[in-house]
Amino acid sequence: MGNTDAFDLSGRVALITGAAGGIGRAVARALGARGAALALVDVRGPELADAAAELSETGAKVWSDVVDITDEAAVEGLLDRATDALGTVNVLVNNAAIGTHTAPEELELAVWQRIIEVDLTGGFLMARAVARRLIAAGGPGAVVNLSSIAGSTALGRGNFAYSVAKGGVNQLTRELAIEWASLGIRVNAIQPCQVNTPLFRTLVDTPGPDGPQLLARMVRGIPLGRLAEPEDIANAVLFLASDAASMITGAILPVDGGNLSLNAGGTLR
Ligand SMILES: NC(=O)c1ccc[n+]([C@@H]2O[C@H](COP(=O)([O-])OP(=O)(O)OC[C@H]3O[C@@H](n4cnc5c(N)ncnc54)[C@H](O)[C@@H]3O)[C@@H](O)[C@H]2O)c1
Repeated sequence: MGNTDAFDLSGRVALITGAAGGIGRAVARALGARGAALALVDVRGPELADAAAELSETGAKVWSDVVDITDEAAVEGLLDRATDALGTVNVLVNNAAIGTHTAPEELELAVWQRIIEVDLTGGFLMARAVARRLIAAGGPGAVVNLSSIAGSTALGRGNFAYSVAKGGVNQLTRELAIEWASLGIRVNAIQPCQVNTPLFRTLVDTPGPDGPQLLARMVRGIPLGRLAEPEDIANAVLFLASDAASMITGAILPVDGGNLSLNAGGTLR
């Protein structure tokens, strides 16, 4: 291939959900740095405005909108407005998610439903809205879904609903990849291990059962010996969103320092 920089996203329009969060911001920085125009979406207005201001300072073209990705009509309206503002969205990063730490036997139906709605159904609604417009425009595109190691292995500690939703994200990824392959829309997912975001730090820095001891246990399970940084995730998203991954679809890529490869009896040296 003659392309000298397969990671170049000049002329692309990238929509990132959950863009006010720790990982979403890092993803926006990485894609913006490679020339993509950015459509930033979140439910948290002030935090989204803050992220949009930060990204604008980097010189990236930034547009943002406060939308709940579980609201079907709002998602369609979002895509119409984003298309008007920036052009056809050809990169979607399904990053927004929520979770809970509640034992399955205590988990209320409404909480279960909301987690499945945000983490799984929201991703479907976003992918459908983007693909409809991309197909009409006849353009190629890429969807990158934020799954988790919890999509393939169990975390315990009341992560039940989140983990089941992420398992669904993996299968959403494979099915959409097959459905849309002939239309030129690649669909892949990333499975991070624990990521060193400000939110994560507030959890593990608080003394108690979910505090420093848990952090030490997590790191022991990561052969590379550290948490992932938001930039590690952003770099993998950039790869899958770009032409560097033009032969890759339906892949579920661990960005986990080897966590999913480590057998319980596996021994590091
Ligand atoms: N942080 C980790 O350790 C980790 C590990 C594995 C996977 N992940 C995944 O990475 C992604 C980002 O995680 P994060 O740590 O940055 O989380 P975060 O909570 O900092 O960010 C998530 C963002 O999504 C937004 N959001 C929630 N519900 C929404 C809705 N209905 N509509 C629109 N926006 C909504 C939130 O307001 C928030 O800004 C998630 O999919 C998460 O499951 C995170």
